[in-house]
Amino acid sequence: MAILDERKEIYEEIKKEILNCQACELWQYRKNAVPGEGNLFATLMFVGEAPGEQEDLQGRPFVGQAGKLLDSLIGSLGLSRKEVFITNVVKCRPPGNRDPLPAEILACNPFLVGQIGLICPKIICTLGRHALHTLVDPTRTISQVHGSRIAKDGIVFFPTFHPAAALYHDSMHQLLVEDFQILRRLLKEI
Ligand code: URA
Repeated sequence: MAILDERKEIYEEIKKEILNCQACELWQYRKNAVPGEGNLFATLMFVGEAPGEQEDLQGRPFVGQAGKLLDSLIGSLGLSRKEVFITNVVKCRPPGNRDPLPAEILACNPFLVGQIGLICPKIICTLGRHALHTLVDPTRTISQVHGSRIAKDGIVFFPTFHPAAALYHDSMHQLLVEDFQILRRLLKEI
């Protein structure tokens, strides 16, 4: 079987498990689980926090206001959404957009680990503190590490702010744009 077909097939299995998952309480509230989407051979993966209202309605990641900003930031890398892979730490929307609970993050973690293991991105850009704490280091804050590269398990992690936070804070928006300029250079090196 060609690698492309095999990867697609394994991905479809992961996706099916996510869509049917009842490992934490969140399945009771969801309209749609949001597995993620994009290129299964992507060099660059984005990991956000959890689906919001629009994502829950459409079953797709980052399709609301924060998603529009993320699209334009991806464009600033000279890339399109189809060329990268986008997912979240938690695949179902927490009610009222509250923060995901530690138990929910833990229950969902095998899916994220499976997606990373299958796609093998060279760079993972973590968006916001939940992705940073889950994938890289629970002891660091975004302000401390944003815009830096952190090598771990053969992957380069690049933490930055969450686009939703940047929508409300101009200074954070500016830092996010600057981080993407660094990320653009990093992509050329790798
Ligand atoms: N915020 C996230 O963290 N993920 C989404 O998919 C949408 C908004």
